[in-house]
Amino acid sequence: MARDLRFLFPVLFPTLHTLAAFANGLRSAKIVGMPTTANIFAERIGRIEVSATMAVTAEAAKLRAQGAQLVDFGAGEPHFATPRHIKDAAIAAIEANFTRYTVVAGIPELRKAIVERHACDFGSDYTPDETVFTTGGKLALFNAIQVLVDHGDEVILPVPYWVSFKDIIQYAGGKVVYLPTEEAANFRITADAIERAITPRTKAIILNSPSNPAGSVVSHAELERIVKLARARGIFLLLDECYVYLQYGGCPVSGGSFVDAKEHIIVIGSLSKTYAMTGWRAGFALGPKAVIAAMSKLQSQSTSSTAAIVQKAAIAALTGSQTCVTEMRADYLKLRDRILEGLGSIPGITCTTPEGAFYVYPNVSAFLGKTGVENTTELASRLLHEAHVVTVPGDAFGTHEHIRLSYAVSHADVEEGIVRMKNFFASLS
Ligand SMILES: Cc1ncc(COP(=O)(O)O)c(C=O)c1O
Repeated sequence: MARDLRFLFPVLFPTLHTLAAFANGLRSAKIVGMPTTANIFAERIGRIEVSATMAVTAEAAKLRAQGAQLVDFGAGEPHFATPRHIKDAAIAAIEANFTRYTVVAGIPELRKAIVERHACDFGSDYTPDETVFTTGGKLALFNAIQVLVDHGDEVILPVPYWVSFKDIIQYAGGKVVYLPTEEAANFRITADAIERAITPRTKAIILNSPSNPAGSVVSHAELERIVKLARARGIFLLLDECYVYLQYGGCPVSGGSFVDAKEHIIVIGSLSKTYAMTGWRAGFALGPKAVIAAMSKLQSQSTSSTAAIVQKAAIAALTGSQTCVTEMRADYLKLRDRILEGLGSIPGITCTTPEGAFYVYPNVSAFLGKTGVENTTELASRLLHEAHVVTVPGDAFGTHEHIRLSYAVSHADVEEGIVRMKNFFASLS
């Protein structure tokens, strides 16, 4: 046998020799500091977490792949198709070979369309060099915070907050100063509360109105007070207005309407929700020329411009008929009222009335501590696995007695979801 294997020696020996050399190499590399999984990453990536809404989406996708019929109140995106005239503009752009790099901040025609739409709807007074078009509102927010917030700078963030705010601030090295709001006051933030949270290190305040997750809206009068405060204290006000066209009562207001305070205001806008364009990745910022220039500089070293064809589609959205926006808003309002009615019929659940966006944020504290459900993460998980209803736990938004439901779904799904939730919560009682 040994003799039979002798012929392998010339083959094996060099191979073993190579392996030994490789192992030696590894050893010496370790001595000189070869990366391990512990030290391979930059410190800043450890400061952020995967978005909780993305985690929920992934869990739901697993169940769906196993054949589960889910009612999905998880994802924060319109169930409508992008309107025809917007799609046509993108198709025309492709056919016309409008498929090359463009200037980083967006083509002049688009920036003109952004400022004119905003001026028409909110009475603002921006010039095209005071806006930058970005790959979604999220990138506008990310870039604004990257260019403004330094290590140790404080950023005031009302709670509950949209999941990404805190991570984006932390990624820049900033310190998040959480500012709780009152559920009894519809989670609305006030100028007085903000004033109490300001310190010499405060760099910016983030305001999201209508808000994700609670749908709360800051009134015109309160926003005016907050704007005055920011100006008096030399602080930037970052207004995330991604849902500004989805307000159900009163007259929507933008930070950009306060033209005298322009130097302190950065408006973040998005076409995602307004025009059912989440996958197109189309957003923008409006702000002081110097801030916009810094954001464009940063963008020039990362994504460059957004996709050329998306820019053409965005022009069609902003300059075309706005009837689609009115129609979608009318449907969201019906969906909101029906889901509130449904939640109201479940014993133990209470819910504020959202004044905008397309989320409800019911209080589920009556069910915590029962049948082993300790927190909203566990509750959302059981709701998903036992009732096949997707929601996002309030833990992700900084409060611990709520779950978030997006009602940007069909009317049939709202009806089915209500039935499933009724049965599920009855089983917990
Ligand atoms: C409050 C808020 N801001 C910004 C965004 C990002 O939107 P976009 O799709 O424009 O990046 C979202 C998306 O859900 C949001 O809820």
